[in-house]
Amino acid sequence: MTSKVAPFLDTIASRRTIYALKPQLPENIELKDVQDVVQAIIKHTPTAFNSQINRAMILTGESHKRLWNHVYETIPIENFKKRPLSARDEAFGTVVFMVNDAKTKEMQQQFPAWAETIPELAAHASGSAQISTWAAFKQLGIGAHLQHFNQLVADALPEGSIMEDWEVQGQLVFGLPAGSPNEKTFIENEVKVFH
Ligand SMILES: Cc1cc2nc3c(=O)[nH]c(=O)nc-3n(C[C@H](O)[C@H](O)[C@H](O)COP(=O)(O)O)c2cc1C
Repeated sequence: MTSKVAPFLDTIASRRTIYALKPQLPENIELKDVQDVVQAIIKHTPTAFNSQINRAMILTGESHKRLWNHVYETIPIENFKKRPLSARDEAFGTVVFMVNDAKTKEMQQQFPAWAETIPELAAHASGSAQISTWAAFKQLGIGAHLQHFNQLVADALPEGSIMEDWEVQGQLVFGLPAGSPNEKTFIENEVKVFH
């Protein structure tokens, strides 16, 4: 393997789900650094037809706590309360990823042959931004886990923070790592080359 790509692959491979977090940032990392990273990723992540549907916001402090308290209090299934509770009490902040649904509808009209696929493509673009952010956070020494309490999260965002047409796609909960990732097993899915 060419060594040129090794640092990139190491970044991809070392991103992991970290549930055990402390409500701090690593030393020498400011919230502004986190904001700059998310901003750059939202800008440079490719989107279908260059629609640039990706949106994100960062919640910390009271807005982060209010959000996860709402999810914790509202989620009807006892089994699902563990993550919102730890996010509320142990994490430093949350990146909320959204897509601009108005843009999706506009593209569906513009490209009717793709109408059915376009919402899926928006989700792909959001997922790309989510995983790039997750990997970049690891490089900054920030631990994170990805959650999908989308409707409950949309209901508890700070007033006026989300436009009517934005749709919540995922939440990256982050903080200072306080534990190791779980053991992970892999399936060797061979990538074949055909000529
Ligand atoms: C698209 C996607 C959705 C996920 N949704 C959740 C989720 O809702 N809650 C959660 O705790 N983890 C979620 N995860 C984390 C996965 O469970 C985790 O990435 C996987 O088990 C591999 O572990 P790793 O992240 O440590 O490599 C999601 C991951 C991906 C890529």
